Amino acid sequence: MPAERLQKLLARAGHGSRRSAEVVIAAGRVTVDGTIAILGTRADPDTQRIEVDGEPIRLQPGEVTIALNKPTGIVVTAVDDRGRQTVFDILTDPPPHLRYVGRLDRDTSGLLLLTTDGELAHRLSHPRYEVMKTYEAMVDGIVAEGALEQLRRGVMLEDGMTAPAIVEQLPGTPPPAHFRVVIHEGRNRQVRRMFEAVGHHVSRLRRTEFGPVRLDGLAPGASRQLTPEELAALRALVGRGDPHEV
Ligand code: URA
Repeated sequence: MPAERLQKLLARAGHGSRRSAEVVIAAGRVTVDGTIAILGTRADPDTQRIEVDGEPIRLQPGEVTIALNKPTGIVVTAVDDRGRQTVFDILTDPPPHLRYVGRLDRDTSGLLLLTTDGELAHRLSHPRYEVMKTYEAMVDGIVAEGALEQLRRGVMLEDGMTAPAIVEQLPGTPPPAHFRVVIHEGRNRQVRRMFEAVGHHVSRLRRTEFGPVRLDGLAPGASRQLTPEELAALRALVGRGDPHEV
C-alpha cells in the first residue's frame, strides 16, 4: 500500500475524524517506526509500525456503514449511565469502532446510520454539509396554516432560529395530524421543539430518510448494510470519496 497521510490512517483505524486525529498527532502521541510523527507525516501501514500511545493501530479491512430502524425506547449512545438499552445492544455483531451519525432521541424511531468511517460520520453530522433528514410527525391538535408557515420560515428556539424547513401535511384524518418534515439541521429534539414552539405536542416521531438513504421496508430493530449506490451517493453529498482510493 502506498504511504498515506497519518490522519487518514488514524481515522480509518477508528481514532475519530481526521480532524481529531490531527489533534492526536499534534500532541505527539503517534509514532511511526518509533519516531514521533508530526502533522503531514505519511506512512505505509503494510511496512511501517504506527502506534498511538504505544499501541499499534488496527486498520479496518473495509469500512462498514449500516442503516438501523431504531425502535422507540432505545438510547443512541455508546454506554448509558442509567443502564437503558442502547443501539449497540440491539445490533447483531456490530464491528469495532462503529459510530452513530447524529442522534435520535429515545422516543423517536426510524432511520439511524452507523459507520466505521470516522470522517464520513463527522461530515454527515456537520451543519456545513446540510444533509436533508426527513421525519414523519404525528401532532396533537389542529395545526393552523399560520403555524405551518412559521415552521417553514423558521421558529425561535432557545438555541436560536431554525433554518427554513419543508413541512407538509400527509393525507389522513386529523386530529392527530400527520406531517412530513424535512430539515437539514440536527439539533437536539429539534422537530419536537419546533412544534412545541407553535403550541403543538408531537406524539409520535419517526425518521424515514437520511440524505439519499430511505428506511423503506426495514422492520423496527432490523439493520442492513448500505448498498454501494447509497454509499456512493452519501459520500458524494459530503465530498468524501472512497477512503481506500488514493
Ligand atoms: N427531532 C426530534 O425531535 N427528535 C429526533 O430524534 C430527531 C429530530
